[in-house]
Amino acid sequence: MAHRAIELAAVVCLGLLSFGSGALADAQTYKERCVKCHARAATLARSLKGTTPGEKAAWLGGFLATHHVDDEVERAKLVVYLIGLTAK
Ligand code: HEC
Repeated sequence: MAHRAIELAAVVCLGLLSFGSGALADAQTYKERCVKCHARAATLARSLKGTTPGEKAAWLGGFLATHHVDDEVERAKLVVYLIGLTAK
């Protein structure tokens, strides 16, 4: 569990560093997979559980595993995208 959280935090850091082209692709994933039920990503980003970005990423990663996202890579992309929105 702790190992997973560290992995996720690393993914998030990489994602934030490579913000730009990656951010567009992640927004596309959100649009395809989530927007029909969650109209605004920014609103959803505010409801993530946890205080620090690392806590939020760990919680969201676990949550999405049982919430419409079976694919680990897509899950990581969405975590990066939504955590990125909370940093603004
Ligand atoms: C079929 C509709 C549907 C889809 C598609 C969907 N969600 Fe949800 N989601 C819900 C509902 C309903 C809730 C509130 C009830 C619950 O917790 O299950 C929710 C809750 C959440 C929460 C918890 C925060 C909150 O406001 O309760 C997060 C985070 C979340 N969804 C993220 C996502 C992401 C990211 C995607 C895209 C992969 C996604 N959801 C796709 C219906 C959906």
